[in-house]
This record gives sequence, structure tokens and C-alpha cells, in this order.
Amino acid sequence: MSKNRVSRRQFLNYTLTGVGGFMAAGMLMPMVRFAVDPVLQAAGESDFIPTKQKVAEVTETPTRVDYTFEQQDAWYTSEVTGTAWVYKDEKGEIVALSPVCKHLGCVVDWNTDKSNPDHFYCPCHGGLYTKDGTNVPGTPPAAPLDVYPYTEKDGFLYLGKAEPRKEA
Ligand code: FES
Repeated sequence: MSKNRVSRRQFLNYTLTGVGGFMAAGMLMPMVRFAVDPVLQAAGESDFIPTKQKVAEVTETPTRVDYTFEQQDAWYTSEVTGTAWVYKDEKGEIVALSPVCKHLGCVVDWNTDKSNPDHFYCPCHGGLYTKDGTNVPGTPPAAPLDVYPYTEKDGFLYLGKAEPRKEA
């Protein structure tokens, strides 16, 4: 007979511990799932946000387009306003630029610096960008303005998430 014989008391302890652990896991798993589920949810396919800008009305002059969307931050939903500078280039392609300056994040304006017409100008530290969003060397920004991917639906402009470009 083996020396490691399990006593009745030990057997009951092991059994109760196992059953208790199993039941605890059964109760905790749904709670953990509930707690982390919103965080783990993948971003949806419909990441393009509608704007009120009609594609046919986009001109060659950069125009400020504001849009709002609901942002889900775990359990909290808030309404966020975004902005893009939108125009058609010489090929008729739409260009949608982020207004966020690549120096320290101020908001750029189109054609507001009298000494540098037809440029995006950042009033915070005198940052300059050409019409295509390229940063002008010798001014504080070290990278071009981010670009929004876009799509058209029912004649309206939809914007994706602004993406950085290579440095000039
Ligand atoms: S934040 Fe735009 S130039 Fe500094």
C-alpha cells in the first residue's frame, strides 16, 4: 500500500477547493468580460465620418469643413468636433488636411498671414505650410500636415482618421 494515502479529510478539502474554485471562476468570468469588453471591441469598418460638405461644391481654395461624431471611450460616449481643410488640387482630386500644426499642435488657418499669401499659417509660432500641407523649411513645424483619407457617399464627403505623411 502507498505511503501517500489521501485521508478522507484531505480528499474533502481537495474536492471542496476544486468545486469552489470552479464556481468562483464561473461567477468572475462574466464580470471580467463585462468590465473589459468595451475596451477590447475593435474599431468598426465604418470609420469614415460624414460631413455636410458636398463633394461637387469643393473648390480649389482650401475651405474649413467642421464635422461632429460620437466617440466611444470605453463606457463613456461623447460628441467630438473635428475640422479639415478641404480643396481640389490641379488634377481635380480632393485633398483633406488636418488643421493641427505639427510643431506643438495649434490650429492652422488658410491665407491669414499677409506676408505669405496662399499658405497655411500657424499663429502660435509662425509655422507655415504650402497649400499641399508641406511644412516650409525654416519655420518651426518639422513635418507636413496630416492627411485625411476620404470617401464620397451620396454626394457628401466622408473623412477617415488623419494620417501622418513623410517629413519634408
Ligand atoms: S504650434 Fe504651430 S508653429 Fe508652433
